[in-house]
Amino acid sequence: MMRDSVGSTLTRAGFAVRTAIDARSALKEISTKRPDVVLTDLNMPGMTGVDLAGEIRSIDDELPVILMTAFGTVETAVQAMKNGAYDYITKPFEGDEMIIAVKRAISHASVLKENAILKANARTSKSPEGLFGLDRIIGKSSAMRKVREQVRAVASSHGTVLITGESGVGKEVVSHAVHDLSPRNEAAYLAVNCAALNESLLESELFGHERGAFTGADKMRKGRFELADNGSLLLDEVSEVSPQIQAKLLRVLQERAFERVGSSTTIGVDVRVIATSNRDLPKAAAMGEFRQDLFYRLNVLPIVIPPLRDRIEDVQPLAEFFVNKIVARDGRRMIRMSADAIELMGSYAWPGNVRELQNICERAVVLSDPKASEISRAMLEPWLMESRPTPKAMPLRSSGIAQSQSSSNGVVHDVSAPAPAYTQPASISSFAEPKMDYRPGDKTLSEIEREEIVATLERFNGHRQKTAKALGIGVRTLGLKLKKWKEDSLVSPNL
Ligand SMILES: Nc1ncnc2c1ncn2[C@@H]1O[C@H](COP(=O)(O)OP(=O)(O)O)[C@@H](O)[C@H]1O
Ligand SMILES: [Mg+2]
Repeated sequence: MMRDSVGSTLTRAGFAVRTAIDARSALKEISTKRPDVVLTDLNMPGMTGVDLAGEIRSIDDELPVILMTAFGTVETAVQAMKNGAYDYITKPFEGDEMIIAVKRAISHASVLKENAILKANARTSKSPEGLFGLDRIIGKSSAMRKVREQVRAVASSHGTVLITGESGVGKEVVSHAVHDLSPRNEAAYLAVNCAALNESLLESELFGHERGAFTGADKMRKGRFELADNGSLLLDEVSEVSPQIQAKLLRVLQERAFERVGSSTTIGVDVRVIATSNRDLPKAAAMGEFRQDLFYRLNVLPIVIPPLRDRIEDVQPLAEFFVNKIVARDGRRMIRMSADAIELMGSYAWPGNVRELQNICERAVVLSDPKASEISRAMLEPWLMESRPTPKAMPLRSSGIAQSQSSSNGVVHDVSAPAPAYTQPASISSFAEPKMDYRPGDKTLSEIEREEIVATLERFNGHRQKTAKALGIGVRTLGLKLKKWKEDSLVSPNL
């Protein structure tokens, strides 16, 4: 009667209530249904309320337990609180009194949970940028428009999302947007970088561990699956997990249940899993490096993000976004990319994708003259040449003009090509000792001069100030010479 009346009072107050006939059946419910608070009588057949509170502690030490106790047993209730019960109410009690106790317990538990999530996030995730949903995903290319549409389409479902693409294309950004737009956005979004942790750390990070589960486990810790209950969990770089953890992931994806390391109690969770991979997972599966069944479980809602070099229209909006961000962060004078700097960036292959673009923008803003209002092409040149991946374009002296143009005219470079033998960035110092690849006497002085000027211009991607400075002549002199040579068709008209 007592159980029924407590249950209906709480139901009327708007709580979802489940009742259990004794401590044993309560424990079963608790480990799978994960309630926010437990109310228990003190004296029950089988197991007492005090023992039940202790058992609950070992399942979830943040789940508050409220004991209902008769006046004469207050001493026992106090003892129980020392053992970890959260509160007690003395029978007989008013409905309101109980509701207040329940609400207090729930808000206490939610503070603890938020705290754990904040701590978990502080361990690996980066801080949020204040952007929400699709606004996080900058880019105007049709490829990114399609990605945004896919995000919107998959967000409302609870299905597992697999995001693939090269390193630095924005997989984490897209993952976060999926969570933002999902009905789970009020609950936690947690991330685990599967590539960054060794097997046992990763296992305990994902599933948590019991006290004493291994050396150093001096406290029970909840894993990300438990903390992300009702929310979303990003398994970043999932291709890197060991076979043992692959098996565990398969199980949690199939059954939405797992055990903490060192525990035999099964915990049920409701987590939306998002996974990323920069490897070709079907291929890895075919080669036996990744479980095929796990791949199918992950690949329910696939999103593929193309590399930045295949969506060059995104370079400008991304560069603006990053430059503005650094300007705001550092509180410096407004600065923007010059038109020819954007053009140069558009011709680069971006082997490091958006992450590389972001780094270049930050470097450019930080190293610019604080009074400058534009980032020049010349500033970016050495950085974009350094990793320029087409080896053919590298032998600057001997290559024809046409070749150097092909590397600055928006041609897509093949980053899978072998790393160029050329590693030293073209800079004024490396240029100070031009190598003589012609024998004296072969050429006239004016030919030598012309070749040297053309080669230097190529080296600086057509930048006249830099070329003039490196050669120790005036920009005007250089301009006049080039004009004359063009008229005489001795050099390319594009120089
Ligand atoms: N479309 C985008 N809009 C805004 N920022 C982006 C975008 N794509 C990538 N970034 C930024 O570039 C960096 C790399 O992105 P990230 O999502 O970590 O790449 P991945 O996980 O694919 O390696 C991050 O700092 C991220 O904020
Ligand atoms: Mg990543």
